[in-house]
Amino acid sequence: MQSNPTPISLIIGLTGASGSLYGLHLLQALLTGVAGRSTLIVSPAAIRVFNQEFDTALENPLDLLRYATERALQAAGSSPSVLHDFDIADYRDIGARPASGSAPYHGMVICPCSMKTMAGIAAGYTSNLIERAADVTLKERRRLIVVPREAPYSLIHLRNMTALTEAGGIVLPASPAFYQKPQSFDDLGRFIAGRILALLGLSQNLFPAWEGETKAIQNP
Ligand SMILES: Cc1cc2nc3c(=O)[nH]c(=O)nc-3n(C[C@H](O)[C@H](O)[C@H](O)COP(=O)(O)O)c2cc1C
Repeated sequence: MQSNPTPISLIIGLTGASGSLYGLHLLQALLTGVAGRSTLIVSPAAIRVFNQEFDTALENPLDLLRYATERALQAAGSSPSVLHDFDIADYRDIGARPASGSAPYHGMVICPCSMKTMAGIAAGYTSNLIERAADVTLKERRRLIVVPREAPYSLIHLRNMTALTEAGGIVLPASPAFYQKPQSFDDLGRFIAGRILALLGLSQNLFPAWEGETKAIQNP
């Protein structure tokens, strides 16, 4: 795996859509795979859905970060080569660092992203720190990746995704591929986390790049 030389600084938002697994794997991938210092914002609904999906009793974002760190360290072995630092910002604190474009973040990921947060971003209606930070990320022309989860989509959802794309954001649906033959839920989580890292321009070894089904034709 290539290294990621520059310490990176991201805003990571987790909201109350199903698919906590994807957010968890994104945190794990950053924690022990990418050097840097980022800000984590977790909505109350994200905690609720996480507890539902993992049978946990997390009370707050710090509990969630500890849970992800334990899992990341277990997966990486006792001494990982990097440990990404996270500051936690309160979802309601619209004056926290990610609220200003003057804070030099490289970009933002919202994973998973609820339709409610998607609507807030698409409308420029910044009612909490995740929506404000996304609004700032777009106005500063920085990379914004959202990982929505809903089924089926209404026309409102689709229009909001279109608006977000038109404004420069990237909609990366929570749709893992199956040609890699995933063996577990964790494989699905690693696939989405790997796609996010790649879109951020970061190297990743969470799943192998597709080499093609047919052998390349060699020059005679
Ligand atoms: C168990 C559970 C699962 C949910 N799944 C989804 C979902 O997949 N997609 C979605 O858009 N909202 C989902 N919701 C609803 C959101 O959590 C709700 O709209 C919430 O207000 C989102 O707030 P937030 O975006 O600030 O986190 C779910 C709620 C619960 C309790």
